[in-house]
Amino acid sequence: MKLFHRIFAAAAFLSASFAANTYALKLAESAEPAEPGIDLFAYERDNRLYYAWNADGMEWHAIDHGWLSSDYGTWGAEKKMHDPYLFHDEANGMWYCIFTPNPNDPVFALTSSPDLVHWHVQNYYPMKKAPRGYAPCIYFDSGKYYIEWFDETNHRQHEEALSTQDFKHFSHVEFPHAHLKYTPIVKLGDRERKGSIVRVTKAELDAILAAKAEADRKSEQNRERITDLPDRLRNVSRTAEIAVDLKRTKNISPLLWGIFFEDINYSADGGLYAELVRNRDFEFNDLDHGGWNALTGWKVSDAIDLDGWHDLNDWSVSEGAKATVATDDPIHKNNPHYLVLEAFAALVNEGYRGMVFREGDSYLFSVFTKCLDGNEAALDVRLLDDRNNTVASGTVTAKGKEWTKTELKLTANKSTDRGKLALIKSGGKVAIDMVSLFPEKTFKGRRNGLRADLAQTLADLKPRFVRFPGGCVAHGNGLGNMYRWNRTVGPLEARVPQSNIWGYHQSAGLGYFEYFQFCEDIGAEPLPILPAGVPCQNSSRGGKGQQGGIPMDEMGAYIQEVLDLIEWANGPADSKWGKVRAEAGHPEPFNLKYIGIGNEDLIGDVFKERFTMIFKAVKAKHPEITVVGTVGPFCEGADYEDGWALARGLGIPIVDEHYYQSPGWFLNNQHFYDTYLRGATTRVYLGEYASHNGPRTSTIETALSEAIYMLSLERNGDVVAMSSYAPLLAKEGDTQWNPDLIYFNNTQVKPTTGYYVQKLFGNNAGDKYARTVANLLNNNGRALPDNNDYAPLHKRFASSCVIDTKTNTATVKIVNLLPFEVKTTLKLDNLGPASVNATMTVLSGDPNQTNVRPSEPETVTLDSSTALTLEPFSLTVLSFPLK
Ligand code: AHR
Repeated sequence: MKLFHRIFAAAAFLSASFAANTYALKLAESAEPAEPGIDLFAYERDNRLYYAWNADGMEWHAIDHGWLSSDYGTWGAEKKMHDPYLFHDEANGMWYCIFTPNPNDPVFALTSSPDLVHWHVQNYYPMKKAPRGYAPCIYFDSGKYYIEWFDETNHRQHEEALSTQDFKHFSHVEFPHAHLKYTPIVKLGDRERKGSIVRVTKAELDAILAAKAEADRKSEQNRERITDLPDRLRNVSRTAEIAVDLKRTKNISPLLWGIFFEDINYSADGGLYAELVRNRDFEFNDLDHGGWNALTGWKVSDAIDLDGWHDLNDWSVSEGAKATVATDDPIHKNNPHYLVLEAFAALVNEGYRGMVFREGDSYLFSVFTKCLDGNEAALDVRLLDDRNNTVASGTVTAKGKEWTKTELKLTANKSTDRGKLALIKSGGKVAIDMVSLFPEKTFKGRRNGLRADLAQTLADLKPRFVRFPGGCVAHGNGLGNMYRWNRTVGPLEARVPQSNIWGYHQSAGLGYFEYFQFCEDIGAEPLPILPAGVPCQNSSRGGKGQQGGIPMDEMGAYIQEVLDLIEWANGPADSKWGKVRAEAGHPEPFNLKYIGIGNEDLIGDVFKERFTMIFKAVKAKHPEITVVGTVGPFCEGADYEDGWALARGLGIPIVDEHYYQSPGWFLNNQHFYDTYLRGATTRVYLGEYASHNGPRTSTIETALSEAIYMLSLERNGDVVAMSSYAPLLAKEGDTQWNPDLIYFNNTQVKPTTGYYVQKLFGNNAGDKYARTVANLLNNNGRALPDNNDYAPLHKRFASSCVIDTKTNTATVKIVNLLPFEVKTTLKLDNLGPASVNATMTVLSGDPNQTNVRPSEPETVTLDSSTALTLEPFSLTVLSFPLK
């Protein structure tokens, strides 16, 4: 009976102390007398769990903080919490919260907490029938815990009830207990809230209130702007000393700066992937984007006047007699749709908001055709400008009844930014598919390659690794949409296109082979991220959220797929998968070293089980591969805590942390990694981060708040193995997420201020960190006291020095977030020669300024003590050779 205590002791006085419903509280009669304690009322507000407390039986005090929110279902408004119910298990001291994430889905959510503050990751358990209208409750009876659902309005008990002994394994109870649930109602402010009441100790309440105060303190810090320097500190210090000891060093990761590529914001098709034809395979469909179909992107007509191209813009997409979409006997089963042109017909494709042709440049056209009536057909292929004048033309003849690929090289005689591809068919009945047009000048001249200017902008960052293909794209929108690497290699026509979680079509033309080749071309390590057997927890398809994961009886095959990737990348050219790589033109291994498993997944049991299986299999078969795990989407909270616990338990070498935070967060968390244990098995890959201001733009403020944080990553390069800003690319007009590192349209590449910060770090990286101490000085030339009074100054001034032992170069980076110049003495201990010439680059500007570029590098002479003037709101990078 002890176990009832905390619940029913509180309930005993409910009717007297506040408005409560009047259902019989049968079990209350069996409760023992109350122990002294405080009542904690738990209720749902804005789909979060809130508390109020009452120590004297009269006054309820609301705690304005959400302690728990649902992670079930599609992101945003679909993540709901209904009827949370708290239960304390005195046997193990654990608190449990059960709630309904969606009354129409047959599922309940359960989580536990040791202290009502830190809630573990939620698990979602299936029910036979959706609990619509019923609210859950837990109680203990005769050695078992029971979960039952009640409809208080209609005084009904749900037909379903479960029993459990461990809150992980549940059995259906044939004859549910006929208990009635008692839901107290508490008036808080002007609102009556329904919830549950438990009894807590004073220490427990104090811990909750302390956690709330800490959360408030953090929120205030997060709101801080870099310009928020208190007036009292404006004239306290305008000088500084930075001391670097070039001999006092520690090893840091040489892979610290990399890039995160995800096909978001049209980064791949219509972006980095140089294909100019949109919907070349006629595989667009409604799943990609509501209303899209096989003819999206195409204009079709049978009434063309060869001299009257000017009418083209009036054509409507039609699927009538002129062009029929067919699916029987396609080029490949993975590309089922193709177009049949019967009579005279013309097709026009405008690409992704127009095609760019440059005078004198060549474009490689290709198409698959087959003649369905045995008669040859001629395809007049034309590149048109924005006024439909022909800038290049040629002819392709379709012959034979089997699918045949024909290629044609077209050279533009005029430049246009809004060009089109037109095909005019005459002759027999012909089927066409995989209509492709590539600029000949791709990055490094690769066939099926990348847009040269964009790829070069990425290469200029000197990334040490490239993560791909996401992000959420990696684990996908539901189980059926997970990114499966082996469907993106081999002949283009045999790859599997699919809908993109960001609402468009992924052709898979930019697939694993192209990613690996790009890495090789720029000297970066490939870091493929494979799903951990679960889709994105924010999925809207296939059961909502991460539910289910790959069924256990299919996990063996899935694990083999992961192992196959390693063979494909590294195996000999005559191995099963190495052969596929070799046939694509790369007989040499790619030398893959890292594999990411999972992307900021919810670390529930469904994930843990599958991740563990994959991790163990890779480790057993390929101990040479470093597996990168995942610890959820935030820098704290349940996924982060439970993800790290899993990592420590399994000995995962690296885990992927993600956080998008305000400039104030970055400013106030420069010590985030200072406390991480050195020499521990698990290091960090900060795989997604960015500083987000209110309007979600990249400004000097966001870029420099990232820069000052990146100094701390260098300082902690012994525990932080890798990092990558996210997302990387965004096409103007087709952007789903802001800010991004690089914006672009068809003709321009527009790096943000944040890009230049990444570039300065990537181009000035090291494999050793040299001890760097930056001190602001008072007017007497003494270091400012390291106390809270001066904290606003201290956190706005930081420096780091790294050494690249390959080039024997040292780089000192200094961030000054103060609104004034700081006259600084840079002391270089153990410099060797009396002086060296350094290259100095400065990025500075007004905090709200966008599109700022760094200064042209200038040469300065450094000796053991050099006077420098650091501009307000600036990043200064000094790079110099060592003896
Ligand atoms: O970077 C954009 C998205 O942010 C990624 O797809 C996802 O992993 C994260 O939530």
